[in-house]
Amino acid sequence: MSGPTRIERLPRITGYDAVRAAGRNFERFSSLHQGDEDVRDYRQLPLEADPPLHSALRAFLVPFFSKGSLAPHQHHIDADARALIAPLAHSDLELVRGVGLPLVVRTIARLLDREGDIEEWASWGPSVWGDHDGRRDGTALLGFLERAVDEGAAGRGGRLFNLLAATPINGMVLSREEQIGVGSLLLAGGRDTVMNLISGIAWMLAMHPAHADAVRGDAALRATFIEETLRLTTPLGLMERIDRGDAAGNPATSPHVGLDFASANHDPATFTCPAELRLDRPASTPHVAFGIGPHACVGAPLARMEAHAVLGALLDAAPNGWQIVHCEAQYRTVDGREVPASFQRLVIAAR
Ligand code: HEM
Repeated sequence: MSGPTRIERLPRITGYDAVRAAGRNFERFSSLHQGDEDVRDYRQLPLEADPPLHSALRAFLVPFFSKGSLAPHQHHIDADARALIAPLAHSDLELVRGVGLPLVVRTIARLLDREGDIEEWASWGPSVWGDHDGRRDGTALLGFLERAVDEGAAGRGGRLFNLLAATPINGMVLSREEQIGVGSLLLAGGRDTVMNLISGIAWMLAMHPAHADAVRGDAALRATFIEETLRLTTPLGLMERIDRGDAAGNPATSPHVGLDFASANHDPATFTCPAELRLDRPASTPHVAFGIGPHACVGAPLARMEAHAVLGALLDAAPNGWQIVHCEAQYRTVDGREVPASFQRLVIAAR
C-alpha cells in the first residue's frame, strides 16, 4: 500500500465557501506550477498556467466543447453506451474496463479525430499513467503525444493537433512542450475522471434502488442523479495551488496548498447529510466537482453527455435494477460513511 502523495501531504483549503473563494482568486492562489513530477516534466495546459497564457489557451479549447461541436457526437456516445451495456444485461457487467474505458477512449478519439489510436489508449488501462505494479509511468503517454504533435506539425495530427501546431496563441505558435501539455491534459482529464464518474453512476444505481426507480420514472431527475453522483464521488478531489499571500502583502503560511474540492462537496454546513444521495438538493448551492473560477472544467459538457448515455443504457438494460457483485474502490469517509472516490473494478448484475 503506497503512502500519501506529495499533494495529499500539503496543507489544505477546505469547506464549501473557502474552496469557492480560493478557486476564484487566481491572483492569490496561482496555478503556475507543474504537478505529477513523478511521471512528467512538462506542464499540463491550460490547467497549470495563469492569465494571460491561461486565458488564451482556454479560449482556444472552449470551442471544442461547445454545444455545437459536441452535438454530432451525441448519437455515437449513446450508441456506444448501449452497445457496451445491453448485451451484458444477462451476465455480470464490469464497468471500469468493460464500459468506462472503451467508451471514453472512443469518445476522445472521435473528438480529436484520431480513431486510429483507440487500441493504444485502451492498452494503457484505467489510468493514463499506467499501472506497473503500483508504480506510475508517463512514458507511454509522452510517446503518443510526441508522435501526435509531430503529425500535427505535418498537418496529419487530426483536428486538435493540427490546430495546435498552426494557431498563434497570444501572437505566438505554442512550443512543442506546450502542445504536449495541452494534449496530455485532454487525455488525462478526459479519460480517467469520466471513467470514475461512469462507475460511480452504476454504484449509486445499485446502492440506491429507490432512487434508481425514481430516476427511471422521471427522466427530468436524471440530471439531478448525475450531479449528486458527481458531488458524492468528486473524481478530481484535490488540486494544487501556489499561495502568493494576501493583497495586504502578508505572506502565505505555506507556499503550496491543496484546494480540496471533495471537502467542499461534503461540507455539512452546505449539504445536509452530505453522505446521502438526495434528488432534492437546492440548486442554489451547486457542487464543485468540476472546479470553480477561471480553471473550471472545460470538458464538463462532454462528461455530462457520457454520463447521461451510460445512465440511460443502464436503466434500459435492467428494468428491475442492478446489484453489486464485486467492487474494488478507494473510499472517502464522509459523515462517518464510506463514499467511493475512484474504482479499480466494479462488477454489477441485473436484479
Ligand atoms: C467527470 C469528469 C471530470 C471531472 C470530475 C473533471 C474535473 C475537473 C476539475 C475539478 C477541474 C479544475 C481543476 C483546477 O481548478 O485546478 C478541471 C479542469 C479541466 N478539465 Fe475536467 N473534469 C472532467 C472531465 C473532463 C473532460 C471530459 C475533459 C476534456 C476532454 C476535461 C478537460 C479539462 C480541462 C482542459 C481543464 C482545465 C481548465 C482550465 O485550466 O482552464 N475534463 N476538470
